[in-house]
Amino acid sequence: MASEADPGEISAESGTVPEHVAIIMDGNGRWAEARGMPRHAGHRAGVASVRSAIEECILHGVKVLTLFAFSSENWRRPRSEVSLLMELFLSALQREVKRMQSNDIQLRVIGDISAFPDKLQKRIRASENATRDNQRLILQIAANYGGRWDITQAARKLAAAARNGDLDPDDIDEQVFAQATTLRDLPDPDLFIRTGGELRISNFLLWHCAYTELYFTPVLWPDFAADEFRAALAEFAQRQRRFGRTGAQVGQDN
Ligand code: IPE
Ligand code: IPE
Ligand code: MG
Repeated sequence: MASEADPGEISAESGTVPEHVAIIMDGNGRWAEARGMPRHAGHRAGVASVRSAIEECILHGVKVLTLFAFSSENWRRPRSEVSLLMELFLSALQREVKRMQSNDIQLRVIGDISAFPDKLQKRIRASENATRDNQRLILQIAANYGGRWDITQAARKLAAAARNGDLDPDDIDEQVFAQATTLRDLPDPDLFIRTGGELRISNFLLWHCAYTELYFTPVLWPDFAADEFRAALAEFAQRQRRFGRTGAQVGQDN
């Protein structure tokens, strides 16, 4: 839960800034409904929070930001809402690529995009290609993403390599497996944030969140402004990450 920590304490130099932040951007629909507006108004309002999260990552030195935009389960929503979300995604890509270029942001889309309309798939590939050499921030958008899907596609890839004789099954360890997931070479998330009050992972980065610090806030995504992001960073800075060791052992290392 949100802490009272002073966001002013955060600095990249102190070594307490997460390298990778992953966010479930939840609560758009409820934000709109509370205002007597249609759900899509909440999705539109959420775009401003996406911009703010990106700006905060750049400001504080976060290297990778992964945003859950559309889950493999979100196809179960009414068709009109699914189409609106696709349109929003397409128009955001069209609009934001220039801004990503000028801010040195590399875009990666993770998820099974083969299920998307052709036009959207082409736009995704073009945006990824246009920004592939950018270094300041890697922005990953999880679209038609599911943690179980990611693990399954990795297993399928490795099985195919083994069948072709390119891989000895005995050589499959956690590192090899991780490389076959959609995050490939990227570090696991250090900080997971879920807005909107639900206390669940909803099939997000299941493999990669094994040791991620979890942060849940009731704030709805369109209200998740810079100060909310900083509160999450401040809370993260106070966590002691032990990775199986004792608190005393970790204390000695510091
Ligand atoms: C998250 O907000 C956005 C997507 C899942 C695309 P929701 O649309 O789930 O908002 P709530 O949870 O219904 O308020
Ligand atoms: C998770 O939100 C997916 C995204 C934010 C894209 P949902 O609102 O779909 O999650 P559940 O179904 O309530 O767990
Ligand atoms: Mg939701």
